[in-house]
Amino acid sequence: MKDNPKNSQSQLWDQTLRNSSPSIRTLVKRIVYFIVFISLTYMFYSLKFTYSSHDSCSTLSHDQHQSSSQVTQKAIIPSGSTQNQTDKHKTELRHIVFGIAASADLWENRKDYTKVWWRPNEMRGFVWLDNPVKNGSDDDNSLPPLKLSSETSNFRYTNRKGSRSAIRLSRIVSETVRLGMEDVRWFVMGDDDTVFIEENLVRVLRKYDHNQFYYIGSSSESHLQNVYFSYNMAYGGGGFAISYPLAKALEKMQDRCIQRYPSLYGSDDRIHACMAELGVPLTKEIGFHQYDVYGNLFGLLTAHPIAPLVSFHHLDLVEPIFPNMDRIQALQRLKLPMKLDSAALMQQSICYDTSRKWTISVSWGYSAQIFRGIFPAREMEIPTRTFLNWYKRADYTGYDWNTRPVSRHPCQMPFVYMLSNALYNSSTSQTASEYILYPTPHQACNWRMADPSQIQRVEVFRKPDPFLWDKPPRRNCCRILPSEKEGTIVIDVGACREGEVIELQ
Ligand SMILES: *[C@@H]1O[C@H](CO)[C@@H](O)[C@H](O)[C@H]1NC(C)=O
Ligand SMILES: *[C@@H]1O[C@H](CO)[C@@H](O)[C@H](O)[C@H]1NC(C)=O
Ligand SMILES: *[C@@H]1O[C@H](CO)[C@@H](O)[C@H](O)[C@H]1NC(C)=O
Repeated sequence: MKDNPKNSQSQLWDQTLRNSSPSIRTLVKRIVYFIVFISLTYMFYSLKFTYSSHDSCSTLSHDQHQSSSQVTQKAIIPSGSTQNQTDKHKTELRHIVFGIAASADLWENRKDYTKVWWRPNEMRGFVWLDNPVKNGSDDDNSLPPLKLSSETSNFRYTNRKGSRSAIRLSRIVSETVRLGMEDVRWFVMGDDDTVFIEENLVRVLRKYDHNQFYYIGSSSESHLQNVYFSYNMAYGGGGFAISYPLAKALEKMQDRCIQRYPSLYGSDDRIHACMAELGVPLTKEIGFHQYDVYGNLFGLLTAHPIAPLVSFHHLDLVEPIFPNMDRIQALQRLKLPMKLDSAALMQQSICYDTSRKWTISVSWGYSAQIFRGIFPAREMEIPTRTFLNWYKRADYTGYDWNTRPVSRHPCQMPFVYMLSNALYNSSTSQTASEYILYPTPHQACNWRMADPSQIQRVEVFRKPDPFLWDKPPRRNCCRILPSEKEGTIVIDVGACREGEVIELQ
């Protein structure tokens, strides 16, 4: 632009011309748009869609997410309103085919992760292995069918750090396409240590037209990883989705494409290289989690972005997400809230106990925390660094998103309550979830205010809302209810009411 001022000037000129003299035609166009808009609005309200009018306070959602959901809301409104007629057009779990990248060496240990989320009679997909494994036992019925990847020794691999299995894993997309399965809308790739929350995966994919080219996933948590690989790459461990026609297009060129990039490291950067050749950018959905971190995911899971939780990864590398149990048991515990209200899983809400001067943060289906003092929402929505960066030398500068330190002040350490049980009460159409105090040593605090240690139990009521994500992203509100039970705090969580704001008190 700089070296060609003439050009940019003429563009500017063009712009001003267009803006200053709206022709009659554009006027007519505007009127038509206006009428269409009014009638759509009317339809929309008469169908009792409860969209919130205060969507300006959502700050966490990424631009890309917002624009994509805006585009697709147009598509969702009619399908939600005339549900029965259009149900067959909606993407369902059965339209997805999974490709799980595995290896014979690790399968025996890793298969437990797949077992956590796999539903044998409702899902389609395969586990792709490099070598035969022991099979035919009972637990094969709770796992996807196994397949052996085809030979890749004629492909070149020159990366010194990586493993040439990357070529095989990258080709899972093509090999799955070649199976010629019917009624497929999306191919979803994941690792043997990826755990999907399948209902949220469907919710996310439903927003996009599967007849178009889409490559959907997310980046690494680590800024440096994204610098070394690419911010435009979907990380394989977090899982990614490729629409059917794009997978077909990829299959036609993938083997030639892979030969052009022998020096790349992994399988997902090989996919990305071919996507770049096809000209298809990453559509970022921030609920896919690569989790390139060490330590404890607690800080991330208690301040999840306002987007459906789609996947977990690297669960072998981080601590179990619930204390005092193994990794698989900890994941099993999440299955209960997942079943009751998957859309709300890990969604944060923030409220204040004004009489006791506490801030309460709920991560639905996972944890609740009580803090002494009143903290603004803009602070509470930032993940605390209970986790370590992928590259140990980088700290808070190692992320392209905000983090905050774990407080060491004796009065500011949160009281942490972990999910212990959840149930659905059909007489109230609400779920009740229970969170029990996790004993952590607290140093004496000399602040003159109520001590949260008297609270042993947090009880949270919430009306499940499977259509939560058909609406623009907005954090749920929470309210503290009166409670007679000693040592229990009772909280109601749900869509914010008219005029309800989490105001500092
Ligand atoms: C539409 O579907 C709902 C459940 O999704 C069902 O309760 C209702 O009876 C259906 N209505 C018609 C007209 O089929
Ligand atoms: C399953 O086991 C049989 C032998 O029992 C073996 O021939 C076959 O390759 C195995 N399949 C896989 C995918 O490992
Ligand atoms: C369901 O809610 C009703 C009304 O609050 C209550 O009386 C009943 O005990 C609840 N049932 C369960 C199983 O919690």
